[in-house]
Amino acid sequence: MTTRDLARLVLQPFLLGVAVCAAALAAAGGWPVRAGGETDPLLVAAQAFRRPATVPVPAADPPNPARVALGERLFHDTRLSRDGSRSCASCHDPALAFTDGVARGKGIAGVPLARNTPHLWNLAWGETFFWDGRSGSLESQARGPIENPLEMGQDLEAATRLLSYDPAMRERFEAAFPGEAGPSSGQALRALAAWERMLVSPSTRFDRFAEGDRTALDERERAGFELFVGKAGCVSCHSGWAFTDRAYHDIGLPGEDRGRAAVTGLSATEHAFRTPGLRELAWTGPYMHDGSLTTLDAVVDHYSDGVVQRPSLSPDLPQLRLTGQEREALVAFLGTLSSEDPPTPASLAVEAVVPRAVALADGSRTVSQKDKTFLPGAMRLKAGEQLVVVNDDKRTHNVRLDDARTAFDSGAQEPGQTVRIPFAQPGTYRVYCGIHPAMQLTVSVLER
Ligand code: HEC
Ligand code: HEC
Repeated sequence: MTTRDLARLVLQPFLLGVAVCAAALAAAGGWPVRAGGETDPLLVAAQAFRRPATVPVPAADPPNPARVALGERLFHDTRLSRDGSRSCASCHDPALAFTDGVARGKGIAGVPLARNTPHLWNLAWGETFFWDGRSGSLESQARGPIENPLEMGQDLEAATRLLSYDPAMRERFEAAFPGEAGPSSGQALRALAAWERMLVSPSTRFDRFAEGDRTALDERERAGFELFVGKAGCVSCHSGWAFTDRAYHDIGLPGEDRGRAAVTGLSATEHAFRTPGLRELAWTGPYMHDGSLTTLDAVVDHYSDGVVQRPSLSPDLPQLRLTGQEREALVAFLGTLSSEDPPTPASLAVEAVVPRAVALADGSRTVSQKDKTFLPGAMRLKAGEQLVVVNDDKRTHNVRLDDARTAFDSGAQEPGQTVRIPFAQPGTYRVYCGIHPAMQLTVSVLER
């Protein structure tokens, strides 16, 4: 969505005191790279990875500082596990950038889980969660590990009762949810989610470079960045400031895990997992959904000579052959995205983002999907009219609408195909792509 599609309301900055100052917010539209005067093509390329000034929170349920603090406590509270032996932090260890340092962690059952424990950076920007995206919000995600018999094995209602016997906890819930009855299990999930949204990865050496300090990267790291955005094609998927398109791709790792296909049923998403963000990787190994690659060298080797050829491979994955020097440069560049010391979350002002129901396209009812983007990003129709979505992209898409009033699932929409979504009832709807969920389209349907 573009800024024009959104009505934005900046809330009071509240975290840890180091709020973004007004000057930094004003600078968000332009950057201290002199307009027109910048000739270093890599500094220009780095602008696409500039850090945001604010962290988005849901306007429908904006957090307060007490709720964020409660979420952090709950994250460390072993009462959320059946035998009191595990908290969220047992696997998402803040000292290891919210990972556990092993290929597959163990929960209360003592058996290795099916997948690697992901880091928890920059979740506030996410649309779908888990490696296969089976959860549509942080609030609903948090119930998963608590009730999973292999992970924490606790009944969430029982855990909430236990917490409510604790007077200090009752007070914290009251402060976090003023005017609401509680503590409730829903509140516990909302508090966990509120805290997780504040886990913004901190600024690193690469960010100094993007801000215009060309001495921040050495020659080899610059060469690595040039490969990353150029010949090696990494940027096709690892895009934006967190280095992820938040879409699902099969990158040809061996294994039987169906990934996103188990959720969508689409063969184009067999073995597809969500592109992980690449910040703070120095602290988060081993890598990939199964933890099968222990070093960044092994990751880069995979892209050059380890790709398993199969029909579901992402169209965004280039066929690569890299020299030893090129591999070293790429790994060196990835190093500039990590902190030197164990990272702690950055403190940004929060911003409530409200999709606004306005028409951006007059008359037309046709939406394009080129380059993984719905264009326009907002559309106005009259009840009874159809939205026309063309696939003029080179990728398979999956146009979806999960809504009690009108549900729609295009299935695999191949390049060249067109789908039509009828809207019978007035209201505001959110259309998205099941393979590239960062593609979002707001449809506002008026009375006819
Ligand atoms: C026993 C280890 C373990 C525990 C305990 C645990 N997690 Fe996880 N967590 C995982 C694994 C493994 C995954 C990935 C599972 C998958 O994708 O199928 C995951 C995924 C996640 C994700 C999704 C991240 C993303 O990028 O999509 C979030 C958020 C999360 N966990 C939060 C929590 C919270 C909150 C708690 C406590 C209520 C918790 N976890 C407890 C192991 C654990
Ligand atoms: C087609 C999209 C795509 C391209 C192109 C791509 N990646 Fe990835 N990358 C992914 C996905 C998806 C994963 C997770 C795969 C999995 O776990 O099965 C991943 C995982 C990674 C990881 C591991 C991160 C972690 O936390 O486990 C690193 C590092 C990485 N990629 C770096 C690169 C580099 C360097 C390049 C360029 C040589 C590149 N990627 C090109 C999609 C892509």
